[in-house]
Amino acid sequence: MSIDLPSLPVEIEYRALSSDDIEELAQISECVPFGGSWTREKLTTELADAQGLGIVIKGRQKEGQTAGPPNFEGGPGQLGAFVLYRRLGEVLEISWLATAVVWQKQGLMSCLLRQLAGASKAPGEPVEIWLEVHEKNLGARNLYEKLGFRVTSRRPNYYPDGGAAILLSWKLSST
Ligand SMILES: CC(C)(COP(=O)(O)OP(=O)(O)OC[C@H]1O[C@@H](n2cnc3c(N)ncnc32)[C@H](O)[C@@H]1OP(=O)(O)O)[C@@H](O)C(=O)NCCC(=O)NCCS
Repeated sequence: MSIDLPSLPVEIEYRALSSDDIEELAQISECVPFGGSWTREKLTTELADAQGLGIVIKGRQKEGQTAGPPNFEGGPGQLGAFVLYRRLGEVLEISWLATAVVWQKQGLMSCLLRQLAGASKAPGEPVEIWLEVHEKNLGARNLYEKLGFRVTSRRPNYYPDGGAAILLSWKLSST
């Protein structure tokens, strides 16, 4: 499928992640602003237990476009954003998500989370998505609020820097 990002229209595909993706996940995760880092080791442990969904940017739609991120048209594609999650009964719990710096603020994570939510709407699928976010991570909090996540509780001193965790829930029946 193709989507129009503010910088350029691109071909994308969603795909499940595997241990082969750890290098790319680790590179994308280097941009963590709050709440501690996600190292290769931590990502490997998490992915052994959890599921992952990514957006792969396959290339540009328009010939000769020079603006925007590096050109990798015709190549295998580049992971632009990903989410790690596990299913707990009627709930999908997200443990970690990130967008590559070069692709941030262009709507990728919104697309990916909507895709995850859409996939959950079939009968018997989860009805709610949970996640937690550092209180000072205002970019991520804006994103979640726009999508429809609502605050359910707050855990003081949750992160190593003393920051509180804000717990959020997105009830999919309301989307
Ligand atoms: C948070 C993060 C995942 C957002 O991904 P993204 O692909 O850039 O998000 P989107 O482009 O879909 O953003 C949609 C909306 O979220 C909000 N938003 C996203 N990043 C923002 C920022 N840096 N500052 C303010 N608002 C931001 C905006 O409201 C934005 O809409 P707008 O572009 O119309 O203003 C990305 O910044 C990231 O990877 N951060 C580092 C890892 C991280 O913090 N993960 C969260 C763990 S809980």
